[in-house]
Amino acid sequence: MIHAATIAGDPRYQGDTVSQLSAPPQIEFRNVTKMYGGVAAVKELSLTVSRGEFLTILGPSGSGKTTALMLLAGFISPTQGDILVAGKSVASVPSYRRDQGIVFQSYALFPHLSVRRNLEFPLEMRGVKAAERAERVANLLARVYLGDFGDRMPSQLSGGQQQRVALARALIADPPVLLLDEPLGALDRNLREQMQSEIKSLHKEFGITTVCVTHDQEEALTLSDRIIVMRGGSIEQIDTPEGLYDRPRSLFVANFLGEANFLQSVIAPPNGARPSGMMPMIRPERIRIAVPDTPTLADAHQRQHANGIVAEVIYAGALRKYNVKVGDSTLVVREHVASDQQVFRPGEQVRLDWLRSDVRLVATETNGGAA
Ligand SMILES: Nc1ncnc2c1ncn2[C@@H]1O[C@H](COP(=O)(O)OP(=O)(O)OP(=O)(O)O)[C@@H](O)[C@H]1O
Ligand SMILES: [Mg+2]
Repeated sequence: MIHAATIAGDPRYQGDTVSQLSAPPQIEFRNVTKMYGGVAAVKELSLTVSRGEFLTILGPSGSGKTTALMLLAGFISPTQGDILVAGKSVASVPSYRRDQGIVFQSYALFPHLSVRRNLEFPLEMRGVKAAERAERVANLLARVYLGDFGDRMPSQLSGGQQQRVALARALIADPPVLLLDEPLGALDRNLREQMQSEIKSLHKEFGITTVCVTHDQEEALTLSDRIIVMRGGSIEQIDTPEGLYDRPRSLFVANFLGEANFLQSVIAPPNGARPSGMMPMIRPERIRIAVPDTPTLADAHQRQHANGIVAEVIYAGALRKYNVKVGDSTLVVREHVASDQQVFRPGEQVRLDWLRSDVRLVATETNGGAA
């Protein structure tokens, strides 16, 4: 048992609320390293996941996301460090005895069992009575939009349908922890959005602690309480979706999550000097585009501006994107499409401006990502 006083003084727990301090975190990685040959797939990873939290691991291919999840699932063991669930080391607990629902790409459905039998199986193992099994299966199949598919065999389903059955099967026994590796990867856009909100409401309803791996930034932003950005086996940054998007620590995070404009050759540094290793960055939707002779606004002293020439206009439904040449740089501007809006054409002169307070300084390199 760890006492609250000890935890409160521990920098790893900063940001946790007081009510969470009384219980250990649901999941904790303590300095976990996984080596393959001479290469660390996961490097000195330390993190905690609170009870009921939805944590997403985001990062480029090969950054160690699946490895981190496989360690948690118990499919592989750490080379160094320890993993705790509900305050207890799970080092000696085999994966089938860890109380976790799992949706992995490589963790397929039972091919010889119907969809209904796939879902019933984990309940049978736990001695749940037939009537309750049938009710739970029907309920969950409906939640993943497969109410009429109970009698099909997995081979008679599309990839996306199989993924949805896998999600239902992971949830069927009401596990305290859910692990998802690219759970919506095979779905088309509309279904993916439907399933995102379904996962969100299932997560809320079941109060299930969830760790999800994805490539998809939008999915990470939509679903998560917190997001980890991984790079080269280490954590580059961990924060809320808003914190990560609005206050990226590094150039890597700024570029990985959303689009970023770097302003070092557009604006002069304050007092003529810029902190070394830092770069000014602004998000495309924070820049306003207007005709060159726009009247000065009352808040002009809070703004910075640059003159440029429109190089490209990209129409994307609800958004219009401009690439604007400013000196040697190209700035991206993103505007919500509105009916009373002026539309600029390639070759037109424009004036860009933005609030000084919307400019962030990001590190060009970080320790974690020296890969
Ligand atoms: N069994 C293994 N043997 C050797 N190297 C491995 C093994 N599994 C993973 N790796 C290496 O570890 C690193 C991290 O792999 P991992 O599968 O965790 O990446 P990932 O972030 O999930 O990537 P992706 O987005 O492509 O799924 C990669 O460089 C990979 O080649
Ligand atoms: Mg992976």
